[in-house]
Amino acid sequence: MTGPTVAMITGAASGIGAATARVLAARGVRVGIGTFPGDPHDPEKTLQEVSAVGGEGVIVEVDVRSTASVDDFADGLRSRWGSVDITVANAGILRHAPFGSMTDDQWHALLDVDLHGVMRTARAGLRHAREGASVIAVSSIAGGVYGWQEHAHYATAKAGVIGLVRSLAVEYGPRGIRANAVIPGLIRTPQSSDPVNSLGPDGLDRAGGYIPWGRVGEPDEVAEVIAFLASPQASYVSGQAIVVDGALTTAMRD
Ligand code: NAI
Repeated sequence: MTGPTVAMITGAASGIGAATARVLAARGVRVGIGTFPGDPHDPEKTLQEVSAVGGEGVIVEVDVRSTASVDDFADGLRSRWGSVDITVANAGILRHAPFGSMTDDQWHALLDVDLHGVMRTARAGLRHAREGASVIAVSSIAGGVYGWQEHAHYATAKAGVIGLVRSLAVEYGPRGIRANAVIPGLIRTPQSSDPVNSLGPDGLDRAGGYIPWGRVGEPDEVAEVIAFLASPQASYVSGQAIVVDGALTTAMRD
């Protein structure tokens, strides 16, 4: 194959997922824009951005907590465009929850999206994957690099995602299919702008003071790395987790 032509992206109505749809579309990839009806994001905005760069996209409602829903997403793209070459398991939620009072339900609800949802998405895409295809999962510096107090379930899921892509890289490598993760640092999106479960706008502004690059990241800066990992130019990169954080986790605090 000349290069990947069809992408399935979960959580693509906002943030990093929307940016990934736009960046891949600009490279000539047809994009399945997975949107979760339980959230207020407008997937039409993503579709308009895809069209604005001359791309082609389709909006599909998908809930990564459901195997049938994610399988339907992949099957529909395969029927429509003939393949699923790039699977971006991006959908995620973040909840503030001190460990001592965390209920089983809170723990399971978060892992059902952030870990099991990634597994379901990868599995759905891989059912249609051919040589040259790849999976990219979105992890986090929380869990992917360090721990995060009062977010143990999130960090656990995000660490688990890395074990998953490493294993997929080994299992699918002989078929010419790659699997990688990106580990975003602090990126300005709806998730990180939530002051209850994450840093909120003020916290993100303050973060510029301790991130060596002097500011938080933008969704496009993660999307560009995802697009690289999905491209034939990354043909020998598999089983890796690439940190995109403006050197935040590299810096020693004094
Ligand atoms: P976001 O909240 O804009 O994106 C998350 C997307 O997941 C939303 O579109 C949401 O509707 C979707 N989603 C939630 N539950 C879903 C479900 N059950 N089924 C399908 N889709 C569902 O925030 P952001 O930041 O763009 O998040 C994208 C990924 O990046 C997430 O996995 C997040 O954990 C990760 N991340 C974000 C960081 C940041 O600083 N913004 C840092 C590290 C990781």
